[in-house]
Amino acid sequence: MSTDQTVKTLIHGEWNVSESGKTIDIKSPHKGELIGQVPSLSQEELDASIKKTVEAQVSWAEQSIQARGDILKKWADILEERKEEIGEAIMLEVAKKRSSAISEVTRTAEYIRYTVEEAYRLNGEVKRGDGFKGGNPNKIGLAEKTPLGTVLAIGPFNYPVNLSASKIAPALMQGNSVIFKPATQGAISGIKLVQALVDAGMPSELVTLATGRGSVIGDFLVQHPEVDMISFTGGTATGRHIAELASMIPLVLELGGKDPAIVMGDADLNKAAKEIVAGAYSYSGQRCTAIKRVLVQHEVADELVKKISDQVSELSVGMPEDDATITPLIDNKSADYVQSLIDDAKEKGATVVVGDKREGNLLHPTLLDNVTSDMKVAWEEPFGPILPIIRVSSQEEAVRLANESEYGLQASVFSTDMDTAMDIAQKLEVGSVQLNAKTERGPDHFPFLGVKASGLGVQGIRESLQSVVRDKVTVINM
Ligand code: NAP
Ligand code: G3H
Repeated sequence: MSTDQTVKTLIHGEWNVSESGKTIDIKSPHKGELIGQVPSLSQEELDASIKKTVEAQVSWAEQSIQARGDILKKWADILEERKEEIGEAIMLEVAKKRSSAISEVTRTAEYIRYTVEEAYRLNGEVKRGDGFKGGNPNKIGLAEKTPLGTVLAIGPFNYPVNLSASKIAPALMQGNSVIFKPATQGAISGIKLVQALVDAGMPSELVTLATGRGSVIGDFLVQHPEVDMISFTGGTATGRHIAELASMIPLVLELGGKDPAIVMGDADLNKAAKEIVAGAYSYSGQRCTAIKRVLVQHEVADELVKKISDQVSELSVGMPEDDATITPLIDNKSADYVQSLIDDAKEKGATVVVGDKREGNLLHPTLLDNVTSDMKVAWEEPFGPILPIIRVSSQEEAVRLANESEYGLQASVFSTDMDTAMDIAQKLEVGSVQLNAKTERGPDHFPFLGVKASGLGVQGIRESLQSVVRDKVTVINM
């Protein structure tokens, strides 16, 4: 039942608790302390709120793009003003180190401002009808971009502010309304994000903030007849489930990954080791774009492993309040899963170079060498601070193993020979390849996508804006 620790959500255009009074306890992953309770909304009250959100879209779309942009720019300013407060909420809720939690907020403000500016410059097209034989030059087609209607934005726990705003901002900027389903562990941060938006002047009925467990309200939201598009970031299993349930509406799915770092014999090993450690272990490996395996040529493997292990041993391990790089994982279940991958690899002959130490859900950074294809850790996404080293004999073997993964988010290639690096990059079945650098999503205006089990559709700033509009063609017959 609701208590005074309940953080109200935005429903029917008002900040409120659920009608039933039901709440979900949000505890910090690292301290286990209750940090707040969020309303557990019922399908009935969500349904009523969604009706209002759908109605509110009409007048929002009629406002000028400048007027919408002004509100979003104000939103960015408020987020920046509140970066400490919102960063604190992120830190407590998802155990992200303090400095990264705060920079998630400033990155989000910048993302919103760029989205506004980019939207001002996206226009439709005018076509004349004589492009075909027997065509008619007296027909002029006006292909305008119009909003899809109501966008369902579903975010993951690991970037509860940034990966939510990167769906909400393009949707609103293009004249849509939004049903926002935050990750439950991340919902308090999500509520603060929307609070800033309302404070910036957004009509409050334009967003329904659907707090509640995905297992309880997720299918209902995904199948809701008033949802015109779904933008989802999260695990591949959830993404597949959503794709099966949703019908005849556009989907953008950003899912899991198993990003390889391919290290060739001629690579700058100091650079490779530094990038790989930063790519694999930041936020304890809980990033879709984390480097999740290293495919290294035999002749440089020993040297690379030494350089990586020296740096892994130096990583700070502790609490997010102390700005440690390695902090407790989001929950015990996740830590159990990562541990099971380590145990399976050890049983099958992998070498633990560093780590394999656990205190509850705090897993120390672990480096596994001599990993082979029969080990689960060679293929599965851990979402934790472990990195398997797989030694390969040739470029061809590296590419084959990279592409054998069900995932295809990103990859890194380390080689001092640009022709070699480009040749490998061309053969990799992924959304993006980083040459001589770690895998990562940004800069945020670059297209960001996964292929195979890593996703569907494209994000980025222009791409996200384009994903929430459709063409509306009016033909002038002169
Ligand atoms: P998740 O368990 O799939 O949850 C993601 C979101 O889906 C949460 O809001 C969750 O709500 C909701 N959800 C659960 N069941 C649902 C259903 N039936 N219908 C609709 N929504 C439902 O993922 P996560 O644990 O938060 O994030 C980790 C995963 O996300 C990793 O695999 C990671 O690689 C991936 N990820 C990918 C990207 C990318 O851009 N490619 C970015 C970040 C994360 P509840 O929290 O209430 O369960
Ligand atoms: O977790 C998935 C995010 O899209 C990764 O973003 O590469 O900026 O950490 P990032």
